[in-house]
Amino acid sequence: MKKNENKTSILAPLTIGTLRLEHPVFLAPMAGYTHFPFRTICREFHCGMTFTEMVMVEGITRLCPQTMHYLETRPGENPIGAHIYGQNPDSIAKAAEIIEKTGRFDVVDLNCGCPVRKIRRKGAGVSLMKDPEHLYKIVKGMTERVSMPVTVKTRLGLTPECINIAEIAHAVEEAGASALFLHARTADAVHGGPANWEKLAAVKAQLSIPVIGNGGVDCAQDAVEMVLQTGVDGVMLARAAVGNPWIFEEIYCLLHGQPFVAPTREERRAVIAEHFERELALMHIEDAFRKRRKHSTEHAACGKFRAQLVRYVRGTPDLRLLIRTLNTVQSPEDVMHMVDTAFAWQAEVEKNA
Ligand SMILES: Cc1cc2nc3c(=O)[nH]c(=O)nc-3n(C[C@H](O)[C@H](O)[C@H](O)COP(=O)(O)O)c2cc1C
Repeated sequence: MKKNENKTSILAPLTIGTLRLEHPVFLAPMAGYTHFPFRTICREFHCGMTFTEMVMVEGITRLCPQTMHYLETRPGENPIGAHIYGQNPDSIAKAAEIIEKTGRFDVVDLNCGCPVRKIRRKGAGVSLMKDPEHLYKIVKGMTERVSMPVTVKTRLGLTPECINIAEIAHAVEEAGASALFLHARTADAVHGGPANWEKLAAVKAQLSIPVIGNGGVDCAQDAVEMVLQTGVDGVMLARAAVGNPWIFEEIYCLLHGQPFVAPTREERRAVIAEHFERELALMHIEDAFRKRRKHSTEHAACGKFRAQLVRYVRGTPDLRLLIRTLNTVQSPEDVMHMVDTAFAWQAEVEKNA
């Protein structure tokens, strides 16, 4: 998988506090997706850095096993950021300290963009954007408590009428954060609709700390366009990587002016099988603190893998027919049977084209 590392990229290496990244292209945190099976697969295809799923600070401070499970990592995963959410400055600072002490993370990242009601109601996620002074206090508390880089992932604002990212960004910078990850949408848009790269460029121009752009990167070319149009210091993507970890390889090639060779079906099949194996390994770890499961561990792993599986076989003709059988997938053999069926249908269509 290693390409010619000497060729220069149009995206310069990036320094986030004490962390130096040669290739600042990031897998965004995604609840339910960015556990180690998916992260390690993306890293193998030239993803520069990943983040954990969103982890609740109160669970960390109580060292709750279920919560700490979200911080599970594999040796060699670095660079990786721990992505946390909360509202209380003391709890957040304490959680950051615990994360630093694990010695397994390169940055601690505060969620300041989650629009999910359950999170907002607690005053966390995007609700933190309502009060820049409170956010300043939180970030300051973190930077005073830990020596590792502290970063913040946020949005443009709550609604198009309430875009206050300039104020938020300055508060974050003044509080000592080492980088800002900016999803160029407002909270009401959730993940949909066009991303506002003009606003992203404006924030980048105003800050001294690195700004990493997120939102609207649906294909590899979009990543290059984002860099060229906004001048951001790095690119972060989420949904486009689900079922397509090869996108990181493609972005790497484009940025370095190298040809990208798309994976064959056999290569894709091998990666899907490996991804599922890791998903199963994670489930076995989870077994240690789960008293009872409704289904077998394998069955549960299949359930968790379904969303990834559907994306891996996208582009299959009659995908809907296949999706109907998704709930019957209960074993590794079932998973691979579904993949083989999808790929056989794809090959058939290509043959007749
Ligand atoms: C299923 C899903 C879960 C997500 N979970 C989180 C999260 O826990 N924390 C966060 O900051 N953003 C989360 N996001 C938002 C992404 O990190 C990202 O900002 C957003 O999807 C826009 O990037 P994209 O256009 O490349 O998908 C999530 C997005 C999706 C689709």
